[in-house]
Amino acid sequence: MIQATEVKLIDLKKSFGEVEAVKGVTLTIEKGDFFTFLGPSGCGKTTILRMIAGFTRPDSGRILFDGQEVNEVPPWKRNVGMVFQNYALWPHLSVFENVAFGLKERNLPKSIIQEKTRKALAMVDLEGMERRRPSELSGGQQQRVALARTLVIEPRLLLLDEPLSNLDAKLRIQMRHELVRIQKNLKITTLYVTHDQEEALILSTRIAVMSRGKVLQIGTPKEIYENPKSQEVADFVGTSNFFLGKVIRVRGEWLDMETDEGFPLRVRKEEGMAPALGEKFILNIRPESIQLAYPHEATLEENRIEGRVKSSTYLGSSVQYEVEVEGGKKVKANVVNPRKKAIFEEGEKVILTFSSEDVVPIPLK
Ligand SMILES: Nc1ncnc2c1ncn2[C@@H]1O[C@H](COP(=O)(O)OP(=O)(O)OP(=O)(O)O)[C@@H](O)[C@H]1O
Ligand SMILES: [Mg+2]
Repeated sequence: MIQATEVKLIDLKKSFGEVEAVKGVTLTIEKGDFFTFLGPSGCGKTTILRMIAGFTRPDSGRILFDGQEVNEVPPWKRNVGMVFQNYALWPHLSVFENVAFGLKERNLPKSIIQEKTRKALAMVDLEGMERRRPSELSGGQQQRVALARTLVIEPRLLLLDEPLSNLDAKLRIQMRHELVRIQKNLKITTLYVTHDQEEALILSTRIAVMSRGKVLQIGTPKEIYENPKSQEVADFVGTSNFFLGKVIRVRGEWLDMETDEGFPLRVRKEEGMAPALGEKFILNIRPESIQLAYPHEATLEENRIEGRVKSSTYLGSSVQYEVEVEGGKKVKANVVNPRKKAIFEEGEKVILTFSSEDVVPIPLK
C-alpha cells in the first residue's frame, strides 16, 4: 500500500555558481495533492524536484516529509519515485524486466517480484506486453512502462518531470487522463513539473506558478486563472488583456475607474480590497469575458469600449478577434458559439462589452 505523504519546503535555496536557480521557496504539499510547478524554462522546476528526490543538495533550507527532515537522507532511502522526461528505459530489457528492476535490486523473493510487477503493469493497462522491448512500444506505452517501474517500488511520493513532453498532441491528452486516473486510484502525493499551462490547469489540485527561482503564486487551477495576484501570473496562465486604471469613485461593491487611455470602466471590488481614490491598478480582462457588438446595439453590460476589428480568426467553436481601441492598444476577444452571432470583419467598427465582474484588479507593486 502506498501511504500519502505531506511535503514541506522551508526557504529552500540552490545556486549553481553565479546562477541562483532556486531563491528561497517555502510551501506545503498536502497528502494526496497533485501539485504542479508551472513556469518557463530555466525557472528552477527540475532543481526543486531533484532536491526533493535527494539528487541535488540544497545550499540552505529544509525539506520535510510528514514533519521529518530528510535533508541528510540519501536518495535511495527517501522512497521517492521519479519519472524523467526521457523515461530512461533499459533498451535491452523487456517490459517486465524494466519494471521488475527496482525490486530485483532489493533482493526480494522471485514470487513477490512476479506479483508486484504484474500488479504495477495492470495499474497502467500494460498486461500482455511483458515480453516486448521498449523499441516495440509506442511513446505512450513507453511512458506507462516508466510510470509502472516507478510505482512498483511503492514510493511515498511520485515526482514527474515533464513526463508527457515527448508525446504527440493526441497521446498527450490521453495520457493526462491516465495520469489523473492512476493518481486518484493510488491517492499518492504527486509533484508534477511542466511549462504547459493547459496541462497544469487540467491535472492539478494545486499549482505553484514560478518565475526565476521564485514562487509567484500558489492556488487551485480556478484561483490561479480567475484571481491572479500579479500581471506575470495572469500573463503566463492563459491569455489576458491589461489596462492601467485609476480609482475615480468608490460606490459600495463597485469602483469607477478610468484607464490611462481615458476609458471609464466599472470594476467589482475584490474581497478585502480597500482602495483609495486615485489608487492605480492593473485591470485584467480575459478574452472570453468580452463580447462584440455593433455600435448601435443595446447591451446590458456595464463596460463598453469602442474599437475597430484588426483581425478575426474563425476556430469553429469560437472566433478570436483583435480589436484596436483608441490609443492603439489591441484587445483580444474570444467570442464563443459563432453560429448564433454575427462575425465581424476586419475594419468594422465595434463595441467591446464586458461585465464589471470580469475585470480583475491587480494592485500595482
Ligand atoms: N547542474 C547544473 N549546473 C549549472 N547550472 C544548472 C545546473 N542545473 C540547473 N542549472 C541552471 O539552473 C537554472 C534552473 O534550472 P532548472 O533545470 O531547474 O530549470 P527548469 O525550470 O527545470 O527548466 P526547463 O523547463 O527548461 O526544464 C537554469 O538557469 C539552469 O541553467
Ligand atoms: Mg526542467
